[in-house]
Amino acid sequence: MSNSFHEKAIQLAKQFVCHKGVPFEVGYRWGKNFLQEAFDLSPSQWAYKMFDVCPLHAELDKWVQEFITKHKPLSRSTQRRFFWNQWFALNEFTLDPRPETEGIVSLILNRKTEVNTVLDLGTGSGCILLSFLEAFPKAKGLGVDIQSDALTVAHQNAFQLGIGHRVQWICSNWYTNLETNAIKKNSFDLIVSNPPYIPSSQWIKLPPEVRFWDPKVALDGGKYGITPYKTIIPGAKQWLTYGGVLALEISSNAWLPFLISLGKQYFSKVSVFLDDFGRNRYLILY
Ligand SMILES: C[S@@+](CC[C@H](N)C(=O)[O-])C[C@H]1O[C@@H](n2cnc3c(N)ncnc32)[C@H](O)[C@@H]1O
Repeated sequence: MSNSFHEKAIQLAKQFVCHKGVPFEVGYRWGKNFLQEAFDLSPSQWAYKMFDVCPLHAELDKWVQEFITKHKPLSRSTQRRFFWNQWFALNEFTLDPRPETEGIVSLILNRKTEVNTVLDLGTGSGCILLSFLEAFPKAKGLGVDIQSDALTVAHQNAFQLGIGHRVQWICSNWYTNLETNAIKKNSFDLIVSNPPYIPSSQWIKLPPEVRFWDPKVALDGGKYGITPYKTIIPGAKQWLTYGGVLALEISSNAWLPFLISLGKQYFSKVSVFLDDFGRNRYLILY
């Protein structure tokens, strides 16, 4: 007997309740996500198709089983994630972009100041940098990551979006290799970064969906989760244009006063912004 999308989502929800121990509403939402992804349905398409017959899908059951037995997130099975306005390909070396990171894109776009040059430190899939470049059609960008295999995917994403000609990628430990790649000092209107910020001791406590599938180097921010900021903040001024902006995603932990005071040593204005859950999540310095 054929099921509707809605009935299939209920079946999946029951499996998630049973095997993942989540409440039914959460299981249903997950089931709906799996189906939307499998059949490429936007939220509005789901609303009017949910009582249509759900066709067979070659990989859906495999994705569900891998999620249940291996804690493999759907985005890792499909190797893609929707971020801001676009799909981004992922590989095992890139972080799976998080929704709160869209907040940093939104904050900068809302400033309405012209940005011609952007440096993204720890670019991963390139999701932040490429979202900016889409919004600023004349802008050029440089994406830096310590993992060259992450840059391979970022590069593919740029071409997929038709903006490959406006981006350069450099494998570097933060600013270390910029000069040797002939990048000029004081040449970026914006430096943006979502660096690793989980304290090393917290790694083991992360859910298996994160710990098994996101690269540790993308999340482990050293003993207190602030090691990257100690390089990124002091180093930014020499790469920013006069009046340029440094935009950082931060953890909502107790180190905020330290980060603000570090920022004030190098910038005259340091502002903290909240994410959608009301947590301190972004620092804007200029
Ligand atoms: C939290 S992830 C952010 C990825 C992407 N920007 C995003 O928001 O989805 C941090 C990124 O920083 C990179 N990274 C870690 N240490 C680095 C370092 N020392 N120098 C450059 N990049 C580094 C990681 O490989 C990872 O891609």
